[in-house]
Amino acid sequence: MTGFFRDRTTLTCDGVPIGSLARSAGTPLYVYSAAAIREAYRALDTAFASYPHTIHYALKANSTLAIVRLLQGLGSHADANSGGEIEVALRAGFTPEHIVFTGVGKTHDELVRAVGLGLKAINVESPGELDRIARIAADRGTRARVALRVNPDIDSQTHPYIATGLRESKFGVPIELAAGLFREMASRPSLHLAGIHLHLGSQIVTLDPLRRAAEALVGLARELCDAGIRLEYLDLGGGLGISYDEQPVPSAEDYAASVLPAVRGSGLAVVLEPGRRVVGAAGALVASVVDTKQFPGSRRFVVLDAGMSELIRPALYGAFHRIVPVEPCPGPLEPCDIVGPVCESSDVFGRDRLMPPLEPGDVVALLDAGAYGSAMASNYLRRPLPAEVLVDNGGWQYARRRQTMAEMLGPEEETSL
Ligand SMILES: Cc1ncc(COP(=O)(O)O)c(C=O)c1O
Repeated sequence: MTGFFRDRTTLTCDGVPIGSLARSAGTPLYVYSAAAIREAYRALDTAFASYPHTIHYALKANSTLAIVRLLQGLGSHADANSGGEIEVALRAGFTPEHIVFTGVGKTHDELVRAVGLGLKAINVESPGELDRIARIAADRGTRARVALRVNPDIDSQTHPYIATGLRESKFGVPIELAAGLFREMASRPSLHLAGIHLHLGSQIVTLDPLRRAAEALVGLARELCDAGIRLEYLDLGGGLGISYDEQPVPSAEDYAASVLPAVRGSGLAVVLEPGRRVVGAAGALVASVVDTKQFPGSRRFVVLDAGMSELIRPALYGAFHRIVPVEPCPGPLEPCDIVGPVCESSDVFGRDRLMPPLEPGDVVALLDAGAYGSAMASNYLRRPLPAEVLVDNGGWQYARRRQTMAEMLGPEEETSL
C-alpha cells in the first residue's frame, strides 16, 4: 500500500506517522509519498506500453524540485508552462530535447531562451507567436522545433476554470484553421514542424471528450500528411483526473484504451502531459487546528493554520478535498466548517464536514493536495510558503524548508521616499 493510509488509528504516509512529521517540520506542511508518485507514473507508462509514447510530466501541477527530480529519475520528460518551469526542469536534470514548452503569452525573453536551448518543441498558441518564433530562430540562424496547439472546441465536462478546449477559451488555434497555418509554417525555413498539440482541460473524469480530441488530432494529422506535411508526434496534453471524493474515476488503462485505437492508425508517436494524475493523490496538506468557535444558533468553525495561501483550490474553484484528523479524536461526529485563517470569506476548506470534536493543537490532513497545491501557494497576508517533505523508504527529507521572513523580504528594497 502506498500513499496516505491508517496504521491502526494513526494516519501515515507510506507508514510514516503524519503526526511525527508535523511535530518535526511544523505545520502547515505538504507531505508527499515518493512511492505513490512512482506508482502513478508507472501506471500511465505501462498503460501506453504497447504504443510509442513519451510522458512529459506537467510541472505546473507541482514544480517542487525534489518532485521534478524524482520524475526525471523515473524516465519522464517534462512539460514546462513558463520560463521559470523550464529552468526548474533543467535544474532537475532534464535535457532541452526532453522538454516541451506550453503557455499562452510566452514573452520574447522566454521564446529567445526556448529557441536557444533547442527544446523538443515550443507548443505554439497563435499565428503571431509562430511568427515571433520564426523570426527569433532566423535571427540566430537556427531552426525552432514547434508543435501547433489546436483548440478542438470540445467540452471536457470539467470545471469551467480548468476547461481549455472550448472555442471561448483563450487557448490554441481553432482546429479548422490549423491545416492552413501548417502549410504556411512549412514554408518557413527557420521552423521545424514536430507535432500537433492539444490540451482539453484538467480534472477530466469522462473519457469521451479525451477520445474525441484524440480522433480530431488524428484527422488533422491525416489531412496534413495528404498535403505532404509529415509530423513526428501527436501531443494529447494532460487532463486525466483523480478521485477527490472516493468515487471511481477512469484508470490509466481505461484512458489508454480510449485514445489509442484512434492514434494507432496515425502511425505517429504520442506525447502525454499528465500533471494531476501523477502527483495529485501523492500529496497531503497537513495543518493544525488553531481555534474553534460556535455561538448559539450558528455553525461550528474549526480554524486551521493553513488557508487559501497554502491551498487555493477550494477558494478558487470550490474544489473538494477530504479532510481527516491525523490521530483519533474520541467523541461524536458533528458538522463543522473547516476554514483557513485568511481574511477572505472564500477561505473555506469544507462546509458542514462531519468531524470529531477537534480542538486547538489537533492535526488534520487535507488529502489529494499534491497537484496545484504548493505550486499555487502564495505569500498573501505575508504568510511564509509552507515546508514540504518527501517520504521515501520509511524515512523523510525536506523538499523545501519553510520560508523565513528574511527570505520573503529579501528582494524588497529599503526605499528612501
Ligand atoms: C498545456 C498543459 N498540459 C498539461 C497540463 C496538466 O494537466 P493535468 O494536471 O490536468 O494533467 C496542463 C494543465 O492544465 C496544461 O495547461
